[in-house]
Amino acid sequence: MKNKVVIVGTGMVGMSYAYSMVNQGTCEELVLIDIDKDKAKGEAMDLNHGLNFGKRKMKIYAGDYKDCSDAYIICITAGAIQAEGETRLDLLNKNTKIMKNIIDNIKASGFNGILLIATNPVDIMTYIAAKLSGYDKHKVIGSGTTLDSSRLRYTLSEKLDVNPKNVHAYVMGEHGDSQFVAWSYALQGVQPIYQMASRKDSKITFDDLAKIEDEVKNVAYEIIKCKKSTYYGIGMALTAITRAILENENSILTVSSYLNGEYGHNDVYIAAPSVVNKDGVREVIQLPLEKEEKEKFDKSIKVMKENIEKIEL
Ligand code: LAC
Repeated sequence: MKNKVVIVGTGMVGMSYAYSMVNQGTCEELVLIDIDKDKAKGEAMDLNHGLNFGKRKMKIYAGDYKDCSDAYIICITAGAIQAEGETRLDLLNKNTKIMKNIIDNIKASGFNGILLIATNPVDIMTYIAAKLSGYDKHKVIGSGTTLDSSRLRYTLSEKLDVNPKNVHAYVMGEHGDSQFVAWSYALQGVQPIYQMASRKDSKITFDDLAKIEDEVKNVAYEIIKCKKSTYYGIGMALTAITRAILENENSILTVSSYLNGEYGHNDVYIAAPSVVNKDGVREVIQLPLEKEEKEKFDKSIKVMKENIEKIEL
C-alpha cells in the first residue's frame, strides 16, 4: 500500500479534510471520488494550483473506485448532512443506503487498508461499514468524538486561560446527544480539573463543568444555525487521525472503536480513548470510570444498539 488517501465525497467535510491535509502535507497521494465527477475534477484542479505554497509535493487527482486498491486509507465523508433542528441520528436511513453502495464499490476494488468513516451518525455508519466490508474491526475506524474532545479542550483552555495543548480531556460515547465528558480524567497539565473545581478560589467551578459539557455537546447545532453545516473542525480532526495512522504515531484519540469486551460491551462502535497507529486502532484504553460516567457510557451504547436494530444490513 502507498502513502495514499482516498476521499469519498467532495462536499464541504471532504474538501475541508483535503485542504487541511494539503496544508499539513499529510500524505503523498490524494484521490477525490464523488458521484458528481465534475465536482471532484474541479476540486482536484483547484487544490493542485495551491501545491506550490504547500508543505510537500503531492499527487492530487479526481479518480474512482479503481484507484482504491493500493490506498492506505479510504475516508468516507459522503452523505446527507443535518438540516437545522435535525439530530445526527435523523440521518440514519438516508446515509445507510449511501454507505451500503460505497462499501460495495470499495470491496470490489480489492482495497485492504484502513477505512475511516466520517458520515453521520458516525458510530452507526462505522458499524455498518465494518459489517458490510468484513474488514478487521481494528482497521475500520470512525471519527467518533475526536472533534468533540477538541471542542472540550478549546472551551476548557479559554476558561482556564491556558494553551489547549496543556488541557487533556476526553468526550466519550456517541458522537451525538448521548455523549459525555469523562471528568475524572480531565487535566490541566498534571492537575485534575475536578480537584481544581472543588477548591473555593479556583477559576473553574462544578457548575462551569456542567455548562461546558452541555455547550460542547450542542455547539454543532449552534454552528449549523449560523452557517448551515460544520466542516473545518471535522476536517482537521480527520487529518489528525490520518496523520496518526500514516506516521504510526500511537496517538490516543477518541475515535469510534469496536468494543470486543472492553467496558463490558461487545459488537458496537463507540468513542473511547484509543491508541491509533499504522494498523488502525491498536487498543481501546479501558478507563476505570466513575459510577455516573459508566452509567452514561452504558446509556450511550444502548442508544447506538437500539438504532443498529433499526437497520437492515
Ligand atoms: C460536528 C459534525 C461533524 O459535530 O457532526 O461538527
